[in-house]
This record gives sequence, structure tokens and C-alpha cells, in this order.
Amino acid sequence: MEDFKHYHSIESLDKSWQELVALAQAKLIDAYAPYSNFEVAASLLLDDGTVISGTNQENAAYPSGLCAERVAVFASQSFHPQKKIKRIAIVAKAKANVELASGSSCSACRQVMLEAEFRQHEPIEILMYTNKNQWTVAKSASALLPFAFNQNNLISQY
Ligand code: THU
Repeated sequence: MEDFKHYHSIESLDKSWQELVALAQAKLIDAYAPYSNFEVAASLLLDDGTVISGTNQENAAYPSGLCAERVAVFASQSFHPQKKIKRIAIVAKAKANVELASGSSCSACRQVMLEAEFRQHEPIEILMYTNKNQWTVAKSASALLPFAFNQNNLISQY
């Protein structure tokens, strides 16, 4: 399987992705983004069918806020540490708009999703709305972060 697959409509994704995207879209309302006005939601599908969603949570002290992906991944690992994350759907929207905005996970979130993959010994598929009418599925977090700093860098010191 290639690292990335591109789809030009939501209908061309499988039903499981479509449902996960719908859940993420419904969660956008819970984003707390008074500073950027850019709302993001990430919905995770766990291996038993559980869905965990997170939204971006901003703060007047800007760096204290957190992206939707990390809110969702950390919640999943806190509440369901034994369950594996199979898929993550990420959607974003400017507060003033109705349509989705194109988005892309920031590198800190990619690093956190990579660590989740390492912990569960299984890749996580990640779906983002990358461009107008383009949905991109990455086959794993590692595909999204080439040459990543990871546990091997630490181990190699000993
Ligand atoms: N944001 C996310 O939630 N996820 C990303 O991967 C990119 C950015 C949020 C952070 C901030 O609240 C807003 O989008 C604008 O950067």
C-alpha cells in the first residue's frame, strides 16, 4: 500500500471513514478557539469500535492551548489505555464559515500520533481534508513524519 491515498469526494471513502468524519464534524462545535477562530476536531476509531473525539482548546496564554489531535490521542490513552487506535479523522473549519477548511496536522501532533503507533505496535491510518475536495489518507503516522526523532535515537546512546 502506498503511503498516501487521495480521494476527491467524501463519498469515495469507505463507510467507516464517512461515519468517523461525520462524528468529527459534529464535534467541531466543542472547539474552543476564540483566538484563532479556527476550529479543529479529531475523531479516533478504537479497535473495539469506540470513538473518542477531541477538539482544539486554546488559551489566552497562547502556548498553553492544545490541538485537537493531541487532546483526542491523550484522552484515548488515558481512558482506554488497552485499546488500539485504528483510524483518526481530522476536520477543520473557520468559525465564520460553513464549509470545511483544508487542514493538516502540525508536526507536534504528528510526533504524538507516531508515539501512539509505537506504543500499540500497529499503524494508525490518518485522514485529513487537505485541499478543496481532496481527502488524503496516510497509511500511518510514520508516513506523515519522515526522519522522525523516536525511541531509537534515545536507545542508540547506550
Ligand atoms: N490546530 C489543531 O487543532 N490541529 C492541528 O494540527 C493544527 C492546528 C489548532 C491549534 C489552534 O487552536 C488553531 O488550530 C490554529 O492554529
